[in-house]
Amino acid sequence: MELCIISVACCLFVVILAAVKLYELSIKRPFVSNVKLDGKTVIVTGANTGLGFWTALDLASRGARVILACRNLQKAEDARKKILKELQSNCDVIVRHLDLSSMKSVRQFVRETFEQESRLDILINNAAVSGIPKTITEEGLEYSYATNYIGPFHLTNLLLDLLKNSAPSRIVNLTSVMNTFGHLNCDDLQAKGHYDPFSAYKNTKLMNVLFTKELARRLEGTGVTTSCVHPGLAATDIFRSLRIANIVGPLISLFFKTAKDGAQTTIYCALSEEMQDAKGEYMSDSQVYDKTVWINKDAYDEGLCKKLWETTEAILESIES
Ligand SMILES: NC(=O)c1ccc[n+]([C@@H]2O[C@H](COP(=O)([O-])OP(=O)(O)OC[C@H]3O[C@@H](n4cnc5c(N)ncnc54)[C@H](OP(=O)(O)O)[C@@H]3O)[C@@H](O)[C@H]2O)c1
Repeated sequence: MELCIISVACCLFVVILAAVKLYELSIKRPFVSNVKLDGKTVIVTGANTGLGFWTALDLASRGARVILACRNLQKAEDARKKILKELQSNCDVIVRHLDLSSMKSVRQFVRETFEQESRLDILINNAAVSGIPKTITEEGLEYSYATNYIGPFHLTNLLLDLLKNSAPSRIVNLTSVMNTFGHLNCDDLQAKGHYDPFSAYKNTKLMNVLFTKELARRLEGTGVTTSCVHPGLAATDIFRSLRIANIVGPLISLFFKTAKDGAQTTIYCALSEEMQDAKGEYMSDSQVYDKTVWINKDAYDEGLCKKLWETTEAILESIES
């Protein structure tokens, strides 16, 4: 009986994965455009692997100066060499250290960026972790919440002057369809009281959406625009912390889209003419996904977006003081 239930569950799982694959194939939309980025500067966080790597490669191939903002310098250097090889050294790609879980590292990264760059045209907040057990950093932040939301919030705000001076410029924030199932508690933003790894991912991905909506309102009239992206289900390392990663990994690479395909909506938001006046749209498959079932209704609560913003500012102030 037990064996029968397990077999049915496995079959169901494979059927769901096959459906995902069919869906991904049916809506596959590579971003085809000859937009050039000569003279432009781009930052991609978490660019050493997965979607970030393919985003960085595409933008570098268009002539941009691309900064790979990564926590592991060795991995970042390897990625840089791969991009140089792919583009036959015909590109300007540099590595700069950034650990988004540490606000000290974020500020150091920004200091170096202001010292070494005269402009910033595109910021891609791509890096994230998932499935990490509760970990409190030296600064008293919870690691997943810091990496996926508080760090990108801090980074973006500190880079705003450079983005404004380079306008028109764009900010693209990676979220996930999992935002739909997230829950926001501004009284315990980092779920220190009641942490679980899966909720941390959903909740931070919801914060990415609310952050984008509020950021868009605050940026009105500055020439800096923003949008957020669910990239679809792509075979990357994002599930590396799952206990069943060894089983899930091979299945994922069979059924999910490739990381290169997964990067297409990000690239679309960064470059397309249609997105030049973006106002915080939630995008997937290079289309607006607002008002679908795949966005949490909290995204439309302007008061909540503002409260999240102010709560995050208060957390950052408490670290600095
Ligand atoms: N893949 C999917 O199916 C999927 C679906 C929905 C949304 N997304 C979103 O897409 C984005 C990219 O994910 P991915 O699938 O490409 O994941 P990935 O392959 O795991 O890449 C994540 C990147 O983030 C970096 N990173 C992690 N913690 C960091 C920190 N503290 N500071 C700086 N960088 C850090 C990683 O660096 P290391 O290599 O050093 O760990 C890596 O470069 C994420 O925001 C994710 O939530 C992905």
